[in-house]
Amino acid sequence: MVKVLVLLLLYTSAARAAFRFANYYGDHMVLQRAPAQANIWGYVDECAAVNITFNSATISATVTPDGGTECRWIATLPATDAVTPFTITATSLQGTITLADVLFGDVWVCSGQSNMQFTVPQVCCIHTHSKI
Ligand SMILES: *[C@@H]1O[C@H](CO)[C@@H](O)[C@H](O)[C@H]1NC(C)=O
Repeated sequence: MVKVLVLLLLYTSAARAAFRFANYYGDHMVLQRAPAQANIWGYVDECAAVNITFNSATISATVTPDGGTECRWIATLPATDAVTPFTITATSLQGTITLADVLFGDVWVCSGQSNMQFTVPQVCCIHTHSKI
């Protein structure tokens, strides 16, 4: 029982310390469409530089320390209003991560938690009224 718990803790900390998108970003999600500019953010170890590739543009993310060895990266995407799905790729020395099939529509926030430290335009995928 103790061994299982230790393994679980090791697994959890290993899974957290990685280059990743914030956990509410995922494939097939909807981001706020133009005229708003959607933000995309996540975590990277040691404040490594992060580039976002989106719709043939490369955007350098802003990387800031978040306590410990982990840092937060954030990038603002160009205002987008298109019916085609996009792929968003984030690249750092720690690898490449991808969000596939991302759509742009209207997004509303329906609820929140006390640990949500971001502003409304950064929130994603609660509901959409896009034309798709
Ligand atoms: C990010 O993009 C810049 C400019 O294109 C490039 O010099 C740099 O090597 C890139 N960094 C990563 C981690 O991909």
